[in-house]
Amino acid sequence: MPNQKPTVPSDCAVKDNCPVSSACAPPRAAPCEGIEERHAAKLGMCDVLESVADMLPAVDRGVCLRAAAHLLPVVREAHAFEERSLFPAFEQSRSSGKSLRRLRGEHVEDEALAEELTETLLRIGHGGNVDNPEALGFMLRTFFETMRRHVAFEREHVVPLVRSSATPETHPLPNPAESS
Ligand SMILES: [Fe+2]
Repeated sequence: MPNQKPTVPSDCAVKDNCPVSSACAPPRAAPCEGIEERHAAKLGMCDVLESVADMLPAVDRGVCLRAAAHLLPVVREAHAFEERSLFPAFEQSRSSGKSLRRLRGEHVEDEALAEELTETLLRIGHGGNVDNPEALGFMLRTFFETMRRHVAFEREHVVPLVRSSATPETHPLPNPAESS
């Protein structure tokens, strides 16, 4: 699981130019801190699920079990982080309204599908049959394609806006460490 530190990371690429860098001073954390590793974790799960889909109707039961073990924790932790840290900062931008509602809705839908996939992968991992390879392939592809689009949108539109539009004087940012 990603580690949450309440200080600016030493490898932060933008700290010298970041308009919200003062929010990073202890005990506050910048809303962008930690988002890249959450996105990378979700995209890593997408790659694993794509490899499962590509093998069908054959399966690697070990991969199914590992995917089942990690999918929900990775997705839930990333969504919880985004909703308590990134989204409140994004919400202060005038253009966030519809996008934020959609992103939150996608989190709910993705977690529901991740639960369903976890049950199926667990059953297959423990020796169950792939009863309907087409249906499973469709479910897997729906999940990872939607997830990749979602992450791409956040990377291209949400993170840059949060980094560039807020100022600690006019838009105090929440401290994620206090709400966890
Ligand atoms: Fe998200």
